[in-house]
Amino acid sequence: MGDLAQKPLLEKAPTTHAGLLAWVEEVAELTQPDRIYWVDGSEEENTRLTDELVAAGTLTRLNPDLFPNSFAAFSDPADVARVEEQTFICSENERDAGFTNNWMDPREMKDKLRGLFAGSMRGRTMYVIPFVMGHLDAEDPKFGVEITDSAYVVASMRIMANIGTAVLDKITETNAFFVPALHSLGAPLESGQDDVAWPCNPDKWIVHFPEERSIWSFGSGYGGNALLGKKCYALRIASVMARDEGWLAEHMLILKLTSPEKKNYYVSAAFPSACGKTNLALLDPTIEGWEVETLGDDITWMRIGKEGELRATNPEAGLFGVAPGTGWGTNPNAMRAIAKGHSIFTNVALTDDGGVWWEGMTDEVPAHLTDWEGNSWTPDSDKPAAHPNSRFCTPISQIDMLAEEYYSPDGVELSAILFGGRRKTTVPLVTQARSWTNGIFMGSTLSSETTAAAAGQVGVLRRDPMAMLPFIGYDAGDYLKHWISVSGKANPERLPHIFLVNWFRRTADGGFAWPGFGDNARVLKWAIERIEGKADAVETPIGYVPAGHSLDLTGLDLTHAHVEDAVRVDREEWDAELASIEEWYAKFGDSLPDALRAELDSLKERMAKH
Ligand code: GDP
Ligand code: PGA
Ligand code: MN
Ligand code: MN
Repeated sequence: MGDLAQKPLLEKAPTTHAGLLAWVEEVAELTQPDRIYWVDGSEEENTRLTDELVAAGTLTRLNPDLFPNSFAAFSDPADVARVEEQTFICSENERDAGFTNNWMDPREMKDKLRGLFAGSMRGRTMYVIPFVMGHLDAEDPKFGVEITDSAYVVASMRIMANIGTAVLDKITETNAFFVPALHSLGAPLESGQDDVAWPCNPDKWIVHFPEERSIWSFGSGYGGNALLGKKCYALRIASVMARDEGWLAEHMLILKLTSPEKKNYYVSAAFPSACGKTNLALLDPTIEGWEVETLGDDITWMRIGKEGELRATNPEAGLFGVAPGTGWGTNPNAMRAIAKGHSIFTNVALTDDGGVWWEGMTDEVPAHLTDWEGNSWTPDSDKPAAHPNSRFCTPISQIDMLAEEYYSPDGVELSAILFGGRRKTTVPLVTQARSWTNGIFMGSTLSSETTAAAAGQVGVLRRDPMAMLPFIGYDAGDYLKHWISVSGKANPERLPHIFLVNWFRRTADGGFAWPGFGDNARVLKWAIERIEGKADAVETPIGYVPAGHSLDLTGLDLTHAHVEDAVRVDREEWDAELASIEEWYAKFGDSLPDALRAELDSLKERMAKH
């Protein structure tokens, strides 16, 4: 096996793409797998791989009467989230990575990685997954090939992206460029060594080479670290492609809103991880006459269309959603999609009848569960049954409310963009920006309390520009300039209206100031009515907030005074906020766009008069 009798295998490779063959051969020589397997994406292949994963103990097959064709995986307790500290942008020049990214010299990093990957697939199968982010028949399809030694990654990538033979054929026919995305669990098996259910390595490295457009990920099997089409490609590498090609790769959902007058509006929203994107994308409105359909829940690619409009598409094919809090009460649309099966759950709890459960799924808590760490669990246990960052991975096609426009390579024209974060105080429920540039300012100063989606402390306030802090693949100041320059090419009349939202503000007694979830449709309604010039607002130094009576509260047990409290701009809180924004902007140094500095200065002036 060592000398890789892989040559003959490569001769049988289902492609003649010289660059791809050379890369696969080079990786095989470095990582020394026992076998090379080209993923075709077929149903039979998926059945075989998931059977093998069940036999290996990585997957638990769920009760098919409850969740057909679905599986649960339980990770190593130290491999449950993205590892931002170990994520690197290795541009040629350190300046191009900017202050928001970890950087190392690309040559030094390559040497280090070659050392780690040397022999890292010994005893394992090396899977080659051809994939495309976005449409295969897009004008300029964004191809990738992930090499991985994890069958769990193959099964998950199959849900999250279009993979397999059709993609490989197109890459081969057109001799296309593809992003080489190399992944290893970093857990080689010596002969005779028993495998574990979730192999991984305590040493984790998630590395991007932006000029080369390549990805090397070592040591983790967790979604955002290992499904390389998602965060690594469709956000970090794509943001660099977008900078060079004049478009935007963003951490946003896309939804379609239909008014009682049957007018359609498309809205995107950027919230940090675990701050409500999937829930808003799948919103079930609680107000009569308004309808929501979904186009995407995590990643949006935007470009200026032929008429100067801002168009958006979702490059993904699946949902990788936060499980806890997703329930029949809060998000019935997600629950229906999940119940159709064909899903992989990671780090949720198991019910005694072979189903899954997590905090918030049902009002009634099961009397007994097996928790995500495999322990017997009862409601008296002092730990949550599901990990706070446990996830469901489900094909987007299973969403009943999927908008047909999801399938259009041209995407949809956006009417509104929301920026939002998780803030207990300070930030009103909703604020309309004064102008497009003022809206970019809102995005650039977006802030949120950290969540379990990334390793590290939870609940720490940090600035998260456009919810892209962990995903901007280049200098953050250049990224803000790019927003200004791309939108400068749009028809100003057709630019979306920008709103800042906060579903997570608390009242004095500690409860949420706003019921959230399906009731967020009321905020969307107000936003649309603002765009149409129909809803009243109060001008504050930070922008326009709803007048108490202008938010539709029909059927809610809330008063106008309650709304006024939820949108209050508190002078003391904002003095502290402005100081913190000032500190944030100082970090950009010369790289901060002048237009945004000017926005901060005029906000300070307005606040002083407030
Ligand atoms: P994403 O990671 O940005 O897609 O966020 P999710 O939609 O998965 O939500 C993350 C967590 O926030 C889940 O536990 C949700 O239940 C919770 N959440 C989402 N929307 C709301 C909301 O409007 N109000 C409140 N209070 N919680 C929400
Ligand atoms: P999320 O996606 O934004 O839905 O949490 C995963 C992540 O950002 O890690
Ligand atoms: Mn995300
Ligand atoms: Mn999500």
